[in-house]
Amino acid sequence: MATQTEKETSTIPYPRECTFSENDWEVLSSMWYPLALETELTDKPLKKKLLDVDLVLARLGGDLIVAKDLCIHRGAPLTNGWIKDDSIVCPYHGYRYDSAGHCVFVPSHPEWKIPTKLKLQTILHEVRYGIIWGCLNGNPSNQLPLWEPEVSDTKYRRFTLEPEIWNCSAGRLIENFMDNAHFSFVHQSSFGKEDSATMGADYDFTQDEYTLTMEFDYKATNPDDSPIGNAAELDRHMHRTIILPFCTRTSIRYPGDREHLIHFNIAPVSARKAQIIAVFHRNFDHDVPVEDLLAWEKKIIYEDRAIVELQRPEEIPLNIAEEVHAKADKASMALRRWMVKIGLKGEITA
Ligand code: FES
Ligand SMILES: [Fe+2]
Repeated sequence: MATQTEKETSTIPYPRECTFSENDWEVLSSMWYPLALETELTDKPLKKKLLDVDLVLARLGGDLIVAKDLCIHRGAPLTNGWIKDDSIVCPYHGYRYDSAGHCVFVPSHPEWKIPTKLKLQTILHEVRYGIIWGCLNGNPSNQLPLWEPEVSDTKYRRFTLEPEIWNCSAGRLIENFMDNAHFSFVHQSSFGKEDSATMGADYDFTQDEYTLTMEFDYKATNPDDSPIGNAAELDRHMHRTIILPFCTRTSIRYPGDREHLIHFNIAPVSARKAQIIAVFHRNFDHDVPVEDLLAWEKKIIYEDRAIVELQRPEEIPLNIAEEVHAKADKASMALRRWMVKIGLKGEITA
């Protein structure tokens, strides 16, 4: 599907009743975020929310539109409308919009020379890896993740969980997915092994402008219901990259060149809600039904969910003195320092 990088897009203003401070919203709105899976698009407009901005997504003919969910005739939400003749039809007066956001038909005045101002506020977007990414201010300051070689190597089977919205901040969620010291406790019912606690705490760490990277070994365990089979002890070599701000690519290597990759793609819906799109690649277990693999992955991430939805304060405190940090937290400290460096203050308004 085509990108929209060459098309004219809008800069979306700070929304009303925003749960982020204006300062933090301005900083966050200048980044790419994963909005939806391409497979979520149907013959109806799709509703999403990013940073408290309601969005409409739709496939119109061979093209894709991502826009603010607002008809600027009288402010009706386009996601209550429908798709007809490769255009979105507003549910209020039936005005139709094409994939560039231009109004192309006004049913009550078919002869009217439609003002150019009658245009949707379209969002810069790009499709990569079956995910639709968007940036609200049209000028992204971060980069999209790179998923190589797993996307082009046919040895890997890909499977994806449906997007979910969790009741936690994107910051707390990404921090969980870059935290290794919790494996031995949060994941005791799946792969965590209590006497491996020091392994998750000791990792090599590097960083650059857009990424944080960690590498370490972990002795896991697996119960009977794991697709990888019951094992009292299982060596994992883990290599994880955090693509700032809120995406991770984690490679887990087991003996025998078996590799499992986890891509967590997180978007801040609002200050206390985050959407997670989890995508997996695996070069083994090809005889295991995808539903079984997904059920296993879901069980693991729901162990995380049970903790992150309870963390308080919901936002990551950017005053470093507010929480206590151990050596195992060096990656989360780097995340916090990066957030401060780009101008975030960690303020939420409601
Ligand atoms: S509000 Fe959309 S057509 Fe009138
Ligand atoms: Fe976890």
